[in-house]
Amino acid sequence: MNAHKISEQVYCLYADIKSNDLFEGIWPIPNGVSLNTYLVKGKKIALIDLFRPWNDALNQFEEALSSLGCSFETIDYLILNHLEPDHTGWLKELRRINPKVEILSTAKGINLVKTFYKEESGLRAVKDGEKLDLGTTELVFFETPNIHWPETMVTWEPKSGTLFSCDAFGSFGALNGRVFDDEFSQEEHAFFEKETLRYYANIVSSFSTFVERGIEKLKGLDIHCIAPSHGIVWRKNPQTIVDRYIKLASYSRISNSGIPSGEKEISIIWGSMYGNTKQGLDAVIRGIEAEGVPYTIHRVPNENVSYVLADAFRAKALVLAMPTYEYAMFPPMAYVLDLFRRKHIYGKTVLRIGSWGWVGGAKKEYEAAIEPLKWESLPSIEWAGAPTAEELKDLEERGQELARIVKN
Ligand code: FEO
Repeated sequence: MNAHKISEQVYCLYADIKSNDLFEGIWPIPNGVSLNTYLVKGKKIALIDLFRPWNDALNQFEEALSSLGCSFETIDYLILNHLEPDHTGWLKELRRINPKVEILSTAKGINLVKTFYKEESGLRAVKDGEKLDLGTTELVFFETPNIHWPETMVTWEPKSGTLFSCDAFGSFGALNGRVFDDEFSQEEHAFFEKETLRYYANIVSSFSTFVERGIEKLKGLDIHCIAPSHGIVWRKNPQTIVDRYIKLASYSRISNSGIPSGEKEISIIWGSMYGNTKQGLDAVIRGIEAEGVPYTIHRVPNENVSYVLADAFRAKALVLAMPTYEYAMFPPMAYVLDLFRRKHIYGKTVLRIGSWGWVGGAKKEYEAAIEPLKWESLPSIEWAGAPTAEELKDLEERGQELARIVKN
């Protein structure tokens, strides 16, 4: 695989990972993910971000470096914007074959190099705004904490106007031979937009405040190319991915006027043991459809929570349908709500419904679980066993009410 030229001195190298493994050990990547690194060639050579030796990643990088007449032995500097092992996992081996390579990161990043990889020498902590002279070009480092961990920074190459943003502006999805935004069709862009939403909701959403701060901090740069560590390199329309991230970050916010965050759509998440909760949900859906509001629907635990998170993060309103199970919430829904808290699925308007058999009990646990989420709740509807005709009518009307709120 060849390297991809951004400018005379800047190149993108990447490995497509197509694996049944889970990203971060949690999130499925059925469409793959790319690990991107960048080579900047002055009189000295810098590699920006590394990779983990995942599947055949090492071979892919060796081939790309070789296409530039380089090898890992010829690199002078390794710039680590972020220490998560998807970008650093091969560090010890790099140091073994190239002991002279100097590693640069923020002070917190350098501490993590020591903690994770037990390296103690050839390390340089850089400060916010510090420059590295490569001879015929230079790099500038800007601290952008918590995009996506506390040590993170971005690297800027002013000559080409390239911002190496690491996880920020990234996406799931393999690149399959092309890297630049102008090389993908509209359909492919639609695919990456969905995978960006899922990546953001799964990986970045807890840090939305920091995303907004980082974008604000970097807005004075004359950016010609955004080069993230996962997904498309944006050389034609870099503002597209910046705007997308601004929008995604806004989904974590509750506006001052109390308007819920998200798009005018409803995300339905449901689980049912014997079909009684499902009967009630069908009535709610009839109400939503009568108002013509779009919705997504996921059954738990049948569908992976990665997709549930993405659609719930994007929607203004949620329907949560679950039975009582052993005097408490249906366990897969309890897991979903715990992730909602961790991933800041805030500010939604929510309808909860569900059936119970012997005795109720989901309510108490549910109310404690959603307390930190700052949701507006419609009155819940619970019923014993199968819903009666009157309960079905109530459920349909409640679905309509939720849809009308979303529309307005
Ligand atoms: Fe792609 Fe936070 O690592």
